Amino acid sequence: MNEIITATKIRGIMQSQSLNNIHRISSRQTSAIPGIILTENLGKSVITSDGMLHILSSINLIIKSGESIAIIGESGSGKSTLISLLAGLDTPTMGSIRLNGKCLTSMNEDGRAGLRNELIGFVFQSFQLLPGLTALENVMLPLELRGDKHAKTLATELLARVNLSHRLDHTPQKLSGGEQQRVALARAFVTRPAILFADEPTGNLDSKTGATIINLLFDLNLENHTTLILVTHDQALAARCQRTIKLDAGHMVTD
Ligand SMILES: Nc1ncnc2c1ncn2[C@@H]1O[C@H](COP(=O)(O)OP(=O)(O)O)[C@@H](O)[C@H]1O
Ligand SMILES: [Mg+2]
Repeated sequence: MNEIITATKIRGIMQSQSLNNIHRISSRQTSAIPGIILTENLGKSVITSDGMLHILSSINLIIKSGESIAIIGESGSGKSTLISLLAGLDTPTMGSIRLNGKCLTSMNEDGRAGLRNELIGFVFQSFQLLPGLTALENVMLPLELRGDKHAKTLATELLARVNLSHRLDHTPQKLSGGEQQRVALARAFVTRPAILFADEPTGNLDSKTGATIINLLFDLNLENHTTLILVTHDQALAARCQRTIKLDAGHMVTD
């Protein structure tokens, strides 16, 4: 479901306000509201040729600012749908979501895009890199969209942290799956978002590169108080998270 993302949405995620602004909003509003993300009776159903399909049902969550959460469950259990809903990339058919005290589910697409710009980084399972741009340009783009004069320096530094200094000028089609994944991670990190969602962030990486990425995720979690919400099958990654949420056929079975 999250694979069908419009260019506007990708731009929305990549645009971000300044770091100061994010921190001011986060600290002010989380002091009034305990959870940076709250869901109440969240559900998503779709009508298929076989009838109504309940993809997610009755999801009640409180996720605190700065928490790290692994979302696990078998293929088809609803993990990608859940993070797409929490990030405002998809809309539920039941219940509500509050992000930093604001009701995401009563907003229109422009409102959701605005909140994504303020708060969210998203790493797609299929990366969603722009094919006409080099690795460096892909990572610079979210910073350029907000007028950051240091876009090139910051993007170059982040690509070095994911061990891609030798691939700056390559377009996505000249990169391996694992390299594209690291570019997508760098692009999501470069704005230092308050909440980072990632769908299988180590899925295409060998164990050594995976360990580098896991360290980077948790460095950011500590350095910037970033809330991490990670869909993963990777035991090593899940073990580093403070909480694990397990989905089974669209229901939360453990938290
Ligand atoms: N728009 C849709 N229409 C019909 N079925 C869907 C749609 N989106 C997701 N699904 C189905 O819902 C289930 C959960 O999907 P998904 O959230 O992608 O699971 P996961 O990420 O855990 O593998 C799957 O069976 C998937 O095929
Ligand atoms: Mg999925």
